[in-house]
Amino acid sequence: MTNAAGDDSNYLVGLNLIDRRVVVVGGGTVAQRRLGLLVASGADVHVVAREATPAVEGMATGGQLTLELRDYADGDLDGAWYAIACTDEPATNAAVVAEAERRRIFCVRADSAREGTAVTPASATYDGMSLGILAGGDHRRSAAVRTALVEALQSGAVTDSAERPAAGVALVGGGPGDPDLISVRGRRLLAHADVVVADRLAPPELLAELAPHVEVVDAAKIPYGRAMAQEAINAALIDNAKAGKFVVRLKGGDPFVFGRGYEELEACAAAGVPVTVVPGITSAISVPSAAGIPVTHRGVTHEFVVVSGHVAPDHPDSLVDWSALARLKGTIVLLMAVERIAAFADVLVEGGRPAETPATVIQEGTLRTQRVLRADLATVAARVQEEGIRPPAIVVIGPVAGFSVDAG
Ligand SMILES: C[S@@+](CC[C@H](N)C(=O)[O-])C[C@H]1O[C@@H](n2cnc3c(N)ncnc32)[C@H](O)[C@@H]1O
Repeated sequence: MTNAAGDDSNYLVGLNLIDRRVVVVGGGTVAQRRLGLLVASGADVHVVAREATPAVEGMATGGQLTLELRDYADGDLDGAWYAIACTDEPATNAAVVAEAERRRIFCVRADSAREGTAVTPASATYDGMSLGILAGGDHRRSAAVRTALVEALQSGAVTDSAERPAAGVALVGGGPGDPDLISVRGRRLLAHADVVVADRLAPPELLAELAPHVEVVDAAKIPYGRAMAQEAINAALIDNAKAGKFVVRLKGGDPFVFGRGYEELEACAAAGVPVTVVPGITSAISVPSAAGIPVTHRGVTHEFVVVSGHVAPDHPDSLVDWSALARLKGTIVLLMAVERIAAFADVLVEGGRPAETPATVIQEGTLRTQRVLRADLATVAARVQEEGIRPPAIVVIGPVAGFSVDAG
């Protein structure tokens, strides 16, 4: 059917389906793709299908919808507000549409959109908004525009001024370095920052994307000693937030993994500044992963321990029980350990870890400059020196560090 303009463009509408009966005829992958959103919208979903995918069955056993494994029969749309015909039999889909037409229920026909009375837009949700795109039946076009729009919102290229966050601080984990590995929420908040206080390991490409008016404070360049620098960082967060600005504290990895993030949270809280914590992908797991090393593997290791190497094993400030670590059979992930790798390897071997235990070092993981050095506990210190490995680097020790399947 065409409209007054002579085309088949549809009227886009948002349905309130909460507790309203929606009947889906068909239980295959096409149905599966629609069901998640229907359930999330609060609809009372009933699926009638000869067969269903394990995922659809799982939603039924999980109580998210009802599933009747049988043929569609006229009358199944009784009481429905909305229907979807998505079997792989055109005749059944046509019968569902015909019943819907008779009962004046809007009905999507998945195999032949024009035969139905409704179509499903390419959709997305973004920070409490629902986006829907229809492109006159050109699904690739609608999906492409939807994806581009979501990416533009995430990167800040398209902004909703009503969305501007209130004054305060967001403690954002930027991930291990590749700018694509920040969370969606982190990227969104970054796009709305007035001030960004960035760590040395915060992904630099994310800073390059910021609008010119955004003030960037490079925390690595704050000219004080270590303890004073932290106070100066805290002051930068608090003073800017109190001046009415939205401040993003952008850190490498996750803010709470050897990142002093909790100290900053405490300082802001003590000053009455509201803080949002946005978790990040920690380098402790993602850097090995990017180098093809799983920190756990079934039947090989049932534990992984993440250890800071910022002080030597015999340093009075060390809180690490190295002899206990030496007795582990699983994976040890060392951060900030490159300078003292000889001392760590020695103490582990002295404590009983076999000298031939694989030890792999990954420098600048997830970045284009990533380097991977494979060794064992006996050789790792000498190899690190020979190869000129520099921080930031991660050392993975244990059987998994010897894994080397080329993922292609
Ligand atoms: C102060 S810690 C911060 C860790 C961070 N909060 C996290 O969750 O990844 C810095 C250490 O993390 C490790 N690191 C961070 N990013 C890395 C990367 N891209 N490649 C290798 N090691 C990295 C290095 O061991 C570095 O010395």
